[in-house]
Amino acid sequence: MSDTYDIGVIGAGPGGYVAAIRAAQLGFRVVIIEAQATLGGTCLNWGCIPSKALLDSSEHYHNATKAFAVHGIKTGKVSVDWRQMQQRKNDVIANTTAGIDYLMAKNAITVVHGLATFETPSRVRVTASDNAVSTVDAAKWIIATGSTASEIPSVPLDGRYIIGSNEAISLPKIPKEMVVIGGGVIGVELGSVYARLGTAVTIVEWSDRLIPGMDSDLGKALRKSLSGLSITCHFKTKVVASTVANKRVQLTLADSNDKTRTMDTDVVLVAVGRRANTAGLGLEAIGLQTNERGQIAVDDQYETAVKGVYAIGDVTPGPMLAHKASEEGVVCVERMAGHAARLNYATIPGVVYTWPEVAGVGDTEDALKASGRGYKVGKFLFKASGRARAAEESEGFVKVISDAQTDEVLGVHMIGPRASDMIGEAVVAMEFRASAEDIGMITHAHPTFSEAVKEAALGATGQRPIHM
Ligand code: NAI
Repeated sequence: MSDTYDIGVIGAGPGGYVAAIRAAQLGFRVVIIEAQATLGGTCLNWGCIPSKALLDSSEHYHNATKAFAVHGIKTGKVSVDWRQMQQRKNDVIANTTAGIDYLMAKNAITVVHGLATFETPSRVRVTASDNAVSTVDAAKWIIATGSTASEIPSVPLDGRYIIGSNEAISLPKIPKEMVVIGGGVIGVELGSVYARLGTAVTIVEWSDRLIPGMDSDLGKALRKSLSGLSITCHFKTKVVASTVANKRVQLTLADSNDKTRTMDTDVVLVAVGRRANTAGLGLEAIGLQTNERGQIAVDDQYETAVKGVYAIGDVTPGPMLAHKASEEGVVCVERMAGHAARLNYATIPGVVYTWPEVAGVGDTEDALKASGRGYKVGKFLFKASGRARAAEESEGFVKVISDAQTDEVLGVHMIGPRASDMIGEAVVAMEFRASAEDIGMITHAHPTFSEAVKEAALGATGQRPIHM
């Protein structure tokens, strides 16, 4: 290939493909290199989208078996057709990744499949799956190669009995028992899927609570909620050894006092975080260093220490979230086009798709306490919401935190029905630097779950919520 593109993107996940589309919209000639056969990266092929497909299917089953009766709906015997549930998930993946092919064609973006390795800052060598080698030249390159599940040396993955999240979305059958190592986002989401389908799930978590990266009230409430699904949690515990024998995995667990005990199970899912995919990119050939986590440092234009080479998403420091990667991709190419784009890292929301859902944006109360900054808190429980009671979804709360002096909203954290969508209001409010009083004065439609956000905001202003 002798063409020189304006921008080359390595990796077609939600960081890379979005950067490519925005760059094409801005008039750049764009090429995108992807090692996998399908576009969309982890998010579309093994992560966000397939896990949500299984979360939704398993939630339907859970409701049919556990929640319909109270609504006065009688069913016959309800059972799971695992093959169909898997097929639907695979169809969702195929349709969604095909949509990215369409968008690449629509925006006249050249797609090259193969593994990219830098030869120079403007030339990349691409090795296709049939080992054919080509080179691609671009004036600027954006590294958007994402991340891979981290492993623990004491529990090596074998892809069958000890698995990562990629395998967990395609298990050949629903296991009777599963141990999940790591009570973070993947652990509680995929743990929920299997617990709803009847698997006895045990979560082994090293910290003292679930989803330790989020406001601690959320982790506590989530644990209570998951115990209703027969998910057992062991906190301050890690796995120090594992063996596979007779189609079972035997684990040795150690608590914080190094007291050990053993347990065995059908399948172990390791979900202890992710590491940046930077090995094999030939970064050393262009003099680009990574930090101890394999990540690449960038400036506020997402340019690395090597001129003309940029990086976005999971390969750079910050939360490993699809929407963070996409926004960085947009800002990166808009800055190349001379726009004054920027990303507000203080308003990136985090969502956990359990049911009830968990969502948060901004400072956690734990972080504010530690910082010594004065703050006020308003909390509203869904059990006081008319809409939530009508829906039989009254578990959870919304918590609004505002500055003690100015009343500016510093953080909003919630666990409850449709929290993934409700957090959007908090993000908009914070983006416009709203006060809690501002949210409290906005008319919210009645009856909606979102009234809980208004009521919690009223609580933070020092006024009383109306319905609690
Ligand atoms: P995570 O960082 O959310 O959670 C990992 C958990 O494992 C932490 O709670 C940590 O304390 C625990 N841990 C670490 N080492 C351990 C050990 N040896 N023994 C026991 N516990 C240990 O990482 P996770 O769940 O693997 O997810 C990876 C990334 O993918 C995260 O950045 C997450 O935000 C992202 N993701 C986002 C989703 C969403 O937005 N809904 C869904 C799934 C993943």
